[in-house]
Amino acid sequence: MTLLLTAHEVERAAALLRAGELVAFPTETVYGLGADARNGRAVAAVFEAKGRPHFNPLICHVADAAAAFAETVPDARARALADRFWPGPLTLVLPRRPDCRVDLLAGAGLETLAVRVPAHPLALALLRAAATPVAAPSANRSGQVSPTTAQHVLDGLGGRIAAVLDGGACDVGVESTVLDLAAGGAALLRPGGVPVEAIEAVIGPVARPLPLAAAEATRTLRSPGMMLSHYAPSLPVRLGAREVAADEALLAFGPAPPGAGAVWQLSESRDLREAAARLFAGLRWLDAEGRRLGLVRIAAMLVPAEGLGAAINDRLQRAAAPR
Ligand code: TXA
Ligand code: MG
Repeated sequence: MTLLLTAHEVERAAALLRAGELVAFPTETVYGLGADARNGRAVAAVFEAKGRPHFNPLICHVADAAAAFAETVPDARARALADRFWPGPLTLVLPRRPDCRVDLLAGAGLETLAVRVPAHPLALALLRAAATPVAAPSANRSGQVSPTTAQHVLDGLGGRIAAVLDGGACDVGVESTVLDLAAGGAALLRPGGVPVEAIEAVIGPVARPLPLAAAEATRTLRSPGMMLSHYAPSLPVRLGAREVAADEALLAFGPAPPGAGAVWQLSESRDLREAAARLFAGLRWLDAEGRRLGLVRIAAMLVPAEGLGAAINDRLQRAAAPR
């Protein structure tokens, strides 16, 4: 059985982590599935619980920049970004220190390590109490929609993990931006909660990933988790909807065309922050409601590509990709 722990039970959650158990916890982006990153068996159990087909490197979560830079080698750019954006939805890929304590499996054997300081008070309390780096992918079964509530975690992983720490709904709603600083340049590996434009205001130009289809075709992905089909509801997804049919479930952004079998509004006022926060819950709801009503697909309206819109469109394109 999976325990549902409240904010008062952070110490208990931390004790479970230290004992090598898996504990899901809230972050400002999505819920993470945490394991003690120094414990190879606990890290292996993360891949098993998620049903991940291969060892995709995990992000190490720590309570502050000093803890992140105790395991990695930061340069001036990494320090500047940490100052500006941590705690917050930015993950930095940096060289591992020779004395890095994080188990190699957590980094999938790479010479680099992804680190981030999450901006959720319960996540920070848990990291301080556990006093260890915590490896945590999103707390969903592999390929499925990321969880933004404790109930979403239980729906996917209940019975497979020791506990979920309940911190309510996540307020950013899309995962962290992943930035690779390890290879000399600066490369965006995943658009996310910190817009790339805001990163460029601190460190200058950042290389953008190839468009999804091209990246898949040429197999130039540096970030193995960026598989094309991901975040996938069970119903097929159609992008760029302007009209909608009665047998479709509509993911709306702003004023919605009439006639859909079911509608989830991301943001009536076309506010990208509100839309990001409501994205994964909406995909889950439309999928369940659409199947209940016998609808055939989810139709998603276009979202502008700037700022958080880049992260939203990235998740929608993956949800719509061929499986
Ligand atoms: O917001 C988030 O980042 C959430 C919360 C829980 O913190 N976590 C999350 O983890 O989204 P996950 O495992 O679903 O995605 C981690 C991404 C993957 O695309 C993975 O390939 C990439 O980060 N990554 C991790 N370590 C890496 C490394 N050393 N080099 C390149 N990419 C790495
Ligand atoms: Mg994920």
